[in-house]
Amino acid sequence: MPHRPPAPKPLERPLGTVPLLFAMRRNPLSTWTRAHYEEPILQGTSIIGEVCVVSEPTAIRHVLVDNAANYRKDDLQQRLLGPGLAGGLLLAEDDMWRRQRRLLAPLFTPRMVAGYKPAMAQSAQWLVARWQRQREGRVIDVAREFSRVTLDVLERTIFPEGLGRDPTEFIHAVTDYFETAGRVDPLDLLRLPEWLPRFGRRKAAPALAFFGEAVEAIINTHRAALAQGITQTDRPDLLSALLSAADPETGAGLSEDEIRANILTFIGAGHETTANALTWTLYLLGTHPHWRKRAEQEADELLTQSESPSPEEAPILRAVLEESMRLYPPAATLTRDAIGADRIGTFHIRAGTRMVVSPWLVQRHKKLWTDPDLFDPARFMPGAREKIDRFAYLPFGAGPRICIGMGFAIQEAVILLAHVLKHFQLAPLPDHIPEPVQRVTLRPQGGMPMILQRRSTPSP
Ligand code: HEM
Repeated sequence: MPHRPPAPKPLERPLGTVPLLFAMRRNPLSTWTRAHYEEPILQGTSIIGEVCVVSEPTAIRHVLVDNAANYRKDDLQQRLLGPGLAGGLLLAEDDMWRRQRRLLAPLFTPRMVAGYKPAMAQSAQWLVARWQRQREGRVIDVAREFSRVTLDVLERTIFPEGLGRDPTEFIHAVTDYFETAGRVDPLDLLRLPEWLPRFGRRKAAPALAFFGEAVEAIINTHRAALAQGITQTDRPDLLSALLSAADPETGAGLSEDEIRANILTFIGAGHETTANALTWTLYLLGTHPHWRKRAEQEADELLTQSESPSPEEAPILRAVLEESMRLYPPAATLTRDAIGADRIGTFHIRAGTRMVVSPWLVQRHKKLWTDPDLFDPARFMPGAREKIDRFAYLPFGAGPRICIGMGFAIQEAVILLAHVLKHFQLAPLPDHIPEPVQRVTLRPQGGMPMILQRRSTPSP
């Protein structure tokens, strides 16, 4: 029997109102029914209003690309993430979004991203050295370790003076924020007024206070460095771009709130996602020795030529990562609200309908994939990869709101994975089955404990 990576069992029928509210709070992934994995489009009305779950590639393209102007970031997302991220690129709309995207795009051009390779390799070497100091057979939480190193990557790349705090403090704060504010509150689902106290929201307050202070310090340090002429000016960085932004028509810069929200957006969106992708990848390689060996072999070969291989040079590592993000997409659900009425095929969409495009569902859909629940990186090897419909695989979204950090994340993940595989073999705990839960990002409940072993035959 092939190993089946863990996933909640689809429900036979939809949950009733109260169980649905509780299940949404505990783990939204557990609320999908068998029909969601089999039907192209499912439309319905529940206590949260009209909902349309779109899993058919042409229809997805309609919502995310062709008629994207009719669909805006939904109200629930704004309520959940707004306290920290409102005014930042992820949640901004209309002119504010266009202005910010134009401003920040130069940091993520293929040339800029390639320029980050040496820094990413340094982070990878830092992680390897950290693990070399551990005793053989020690159990480590791979999720936490990758959170730490992906934050290190951000510090060495887009934050010129680093984050100015102990990274573990950031990791605690981001985890606490996602664990509390990122849980779907029944009051939010019911669209009840903001003045009604949300349990999770109150618990997120210390994390938000920490972010406020930390971000203030990041800005002040950067302004001081600029004033003294001691910051790097030869390449764009996130803070300089945000602080020196000027609208071509009005000359106006970004407000202090926009600057703060973007710093937090890039910390939040830029490290936890990549960390989760790598965490699940190591788990899947730990349970699929055949692919682990192939990936190790490629890593050994690549690192004899360069410390920082490109994704194009690493077809196996890339296929393994892509297949891992198919099964465990770090952003499991993309949601939008319909501004005006629309028609998708035979479906009539009313204004205000909550549109759900779920990479989790689409990438495990019975009509789109053969044996969707099995881990098989061969799907993403050259020759097969090109046959996958663009809108059947969307871990980074699609259309104008596609992830701005996609190239950055893939390059980073390939480099980190290559270094880890060259030196270590991580084995899952025999009696531990990780449970995927959706808390803004898709993460293993309680972390990912794995046994750290050195490779017996690392290449020279
Ligand atoms: C494996 C890693 C990553 C995954 C799976 C991922 C996924 C996504 C997805 C699906 C979206 C679109 C959301 C939507 O349409 O509603 C998005 C947007 C975004 N991502 Fe990523 N992301 C990753 C890494 C990164 C990195 C490394 C950065 C920055 C350094 C980043 C920054 C952003 C930002 C700022 C947005 C908002 C873009 C906009 O609305 O214009 N992400 N990401």
